[in-house]
Formats: sequence, structure tokens, C-alpha cells
Amino acid sequence: MDFTSGSGLGRLVGQPPRVLHALRNVSLTVGVGEMLGVVGESGCGKSTLGRCIAGLYQPTRGEIFWQGAPLAALGGYRERSRQIQMIFQDPYSSLNPRMSIRQMLEEVLTVHAPAHGKGEVRDRLDELLLTVGLSPALKERLPHALSGGQRQRVSIARALAPKPRLIVADEPVSALDASVQAQIINLFDELREKLGIAFIFVAHDLDVVRHISQRIAVMYLGEVVETAPAETLFAHPVHPYSRGLIAAIPSLDPERRTPDAGIDGELPDPMKPPAGCAFSGRCSHVLPDCRQRHPNLEPVTVGHLSRCLRNEAFAA
Ligand SMILES: Nc1ncnc2c1ncn2[C@@H]1O[C@H](COP(=O)(O)OP(=O)(O)O)[C@@H](O)[C@H]1O
Ligand SMILES: [Mg+2]
Repeated sequence: MDFTSGSGLGRLVGQPPRVLHALRNVSLTVGVGEMLGVVGESGCGKSTLGRCIAGLYQPTRGEIFWQGAPLAALGGYRERSRQIQMIFQDPYSSLNPRMSIRQMLEEVLTVHAPAHGKGEVRDRLDELLLTVGLSPALKERLPHALSGGQRQRVSIARALAPKPRLIVADEPVSALDASVQAQIINLFDELREKLGIAFIFVAHDLDVVRHISQRIAVMYLGEVVETAPAETLFAHPVHPYSRGLIAAIPSLDPERRTPDAGIDGELPDPMKPPAGCAFSGRCSHVLPDCRQRHPNLEPVTVGHLSRCLRNEAFAA
């Protein structure tokens, strides 16, 4: 997925447009009813990925498949949104401040099941609220009369209304207090298990997705640098970037923190990515070759892939 800038005045004075490759060579699969955690620091392309999958962006290149067929075969926005829903970080800005919870949910329910009578819509609305842990007694409230956690529960209810098969949740707990975060994370886990919905759960913090993801993909500068079953990733991380992220989680065993404690430096300018490995400029294990050769995402073991020239050494 590319973003092109400088197409206005810059082009008039003869400057070439600048292209930012927000996503490059990303290849991922999500199984039915699976929770895929996607992590990486701010600016690495997580939201762009989520938006491509939810159909909010049209990828510049490449294809997205849905149950074996190109995603486009699902049809227009409405058909797609029946199957794939998105939840955003800030429930306040994604909810209409002038509509009550009931009005908002009724609207979605009516769009997706226009044949339903009033009674059916009301029953389904109450059921949705209960599913996300809200009392139907709250339904006449406006968003501002709810807490942050309650508002995020409303966005979740709204996303569940069309009975989607996949929900892309883009940092859905980042704006919430720590105590509320855990409740909402548990709710996602429950929904996956009870309703069999697949989730792509985006977070900038590995700790957030650790216990609820079946698989995790770690992103760096628009690329997936490592993907593995969650337990494998934590027990045997291979890529130096993932190792740094894990080492930086304060709650983990301090002994494991020493070799790669955290990650220094900043994400490079995405308009000018390094020639070799995207992480080479910040990697404490860098070799001269890493600055020349761009590594592929390659299997370390079955279902565990890493994008590092030194995969073998680090997997040992
Ligand atoms: N609409 C856009 N136009 C131009 N650049 C964008 C746009 N959206 C994102 N970007 C750029 O793409 C890169 C990835 O952004 P994003 O997907 O939002 O990352 P993340 O969600 O991981 O923080 C960043 O460098 C960002 O500045
Ligand atoms: Mg984002």
C-alpha cells in the first residue's frame, strides 16, 4: 500500500511526487474463529493494514482473499461490512454524539436486516447489549453519558450487529484505563470463543495481545518481520526486533531482559527505508551484510517465520 504526496504545488514546480510504502510484501492469513494479534510501534503500518482488510483503503498492489476468493468478489461496501467489521481506538469519535445507543444500534440492525419488525429489532438490540456486558437499561443514553469502557462496548455491539465473520480491532484498548483494558480484552476473547468470530487485534504493545491471540504478527516499517503461534513467539522469539519488544515488557523475567533490553533509536523515515534489512539501523546484532541484503520472511519451524538474515543463529 503506497501513499503518494506532493501531487499539488510540488508537481507544478517539477518536483516528483514522494511515495511512502506504508505496507510492503505483507502476507498473512487469519483462520476461522482465530485471533491474530498484530503488533509494532506507531507508524509501522498496522492501521493501514486493518483499513485495507476492512475495505477502507484500496491496496496499491497485491490481493486480499476472503474464503478463497478475491475480497472484491464479496461486493460493495455494504456486503463487505456484513462480513468484516472494524473497531477503532477512540470510541468517542467513532460514535455519533447526538444519537442514543438505541438509535445507533437500531440503525445498523435495520440496514442489515431490513425485513425485521420492530419487536425483533428491539430483542436483538437488547441481546447485543447483554452480549457486550451492558445493561439494556443504558440504551437511551447518549455516548457522553457513558464511561470510556462502556463506549467501547457500544462500538463492539455495533460491530457485532451484522453478525460479521471477521472483526478488525485497531488498538481498541489503547485509549482506556489499565483496569478497563483487561475487561475489554477479556470480552474480545469471550466473543471469539462464543461466536466463532475471527479477530485481527492491532496493538502497539505485545503484552496486550499476548494472552488472547492464537497467532501474532510483528510488524516493522510496513513489513511483517515475524509471525508465530503466540506461545512460540514468547518462548522462542527469533527476530531481534521481536526479541527487543519482548525484553522491554516490564512484567517479564528480568534475566531474559538483559541481552536485548528494549530497542534504541527511532523508526527510520518510511519515505527512505534502509537498503538492506529495515531494522539494520537499530539492531544490536547487525552484520555488514544486513545493510545490503533485504531478508525474506522465511520459516524457522512450521508456522513460525522470521525476516532476518541470521534466523538460523537466533533460532538455535
Ligand atoms: N492517509 C495517509 N496518507 C499518507 N500517509 C499515511 C496515511 N496513513 C498512514 N500514512 C503513513 O503510513 C505509515 C503507516 O501508518 P499507520 O498505518 O497509521 O501506522 P500505525 O497504525 O502502525 O501507527 C506512516 O508512516 C504514516 O505516516
Ligand atoms: Mg494505527
